[in-house]
Amino acid sequence: MEENGSIDRQIAVIGAGVMGSAIIKGLVGSGMILPQDLTAIDIDPIKLETLAGEAGINTTGDITNGIADRSIIILAVKPQTANIVLEAVSASISKTQLVLSIIAGLSLSKLSSGLAGHRCIIRCMPNTPALIGKGITAIASLPEVSLTEIDLAERLLKAVGDVVRVGESCMDAVTGLSGSGPAYVYTFIEALIDAGVREGLSRDLARRLALATVSGSTDMVSKSGLHPATLRDMVTSPGGTTIAAIEKLEREGFRAAIYSAVAAAAERSAELEK
Ligand SMILES: NC(=O)c1ccc[n+]([C@@H]2O[C@H](COP(=O)([O-])OP(=O)(O)OC[C@H]3O[C@@H](n4cnc5c(N)ncnc54)[C@H](OP(=O)(O)O)[C@@H]3O)[C@@H](O)[C@H]2O)c1
Repeated sequence: MEENGSIDRQIAVIGAGVMGSAIIKGLVGSGMILPQDLTAIDIDPIKLETLAGEAGINTTGDITNGIADRSIIILAVKPQTANIVLEAVSASISKTQLVLSIIAGLSLSKLSSGLAGHRCIIRCMPNTPALIGKGITAIASLPEVSLTEIDLAERLLKAVGDVVRVGESCMDAVTGLSGSGPAYVYTFIEALIDAGVREGLSRDLARRLALATVSGSTDMVSKSGLHPATLRDMVTSPGGTTIAAIEKLEREGFRAAIYSAVAAAAERSAELEK
């Protein structure tokens, strides 16, 4: 039964690091999951103590105890520690437990074999704005996962932002675009601030102008529904300042650099998966 939009399921999150604790805080903070229904599992007792204090959840260092009777298990450890964790989980997992994995580069088939043939698995690729509830997570599942379970996963992950459903073959491209994407945007923002400083603005003023410009432009694209090129044309008057800058961007390969950056991250993601 669900009360006040909360989900009446017991959830275990293995790995209470950056992403795991963002998911935990999002779930509790949004009221989606009651703190007593959430268990964080980590090898670091200090992290667990802090999280228990902040979110009021259950904590343990023991995977077997932590996942017992939980209907959903979220895997949020680094790829390097995945094998140890999968082995521990596979020793006691039951067929109906839904596994959500945010471990980068670990395919559904590898997850399934690491979990002794378990098939109720959804692979997720979030991004770091999840830390402030503004992430976007792409999810892909094995064919055995029911639509009800996929809907449930989507509702849970919406606690930290938007969610899109994709085929697993899209995951490398998703990693290249939205997984690594915040770093490209931070680099652009940093360059815009430095460029303002280069033109004689104070750093504080340049930062304020750059942030408002990026977030305002993002809202213009999403709220107007117009193509970005149409919005650009609207501010590009003949012989004006903006077209002079756009010419520079095109000549210096700005657009091509973005294609190459996304392709490089997607290729690296595919390599790591192997
Ligand atoms: N950060 C991102 O932008 C992002 C985006 C998409 C996907 N991801 C994926 O999300 C996953 C988690 O990333 P993160 O940045 O949150 O990593 P993180 O901060 O290092 O968190 C992982 C946590 O797992 C703990 N841990 C290690 N071994 C464990 C074990 N055997 N049992 C239980 N807990 C264990 C770690 O403890 P110690 O610190 O003591 O080792 C740490 O607290 C990664 O697979 C990453 O690929 C991250």
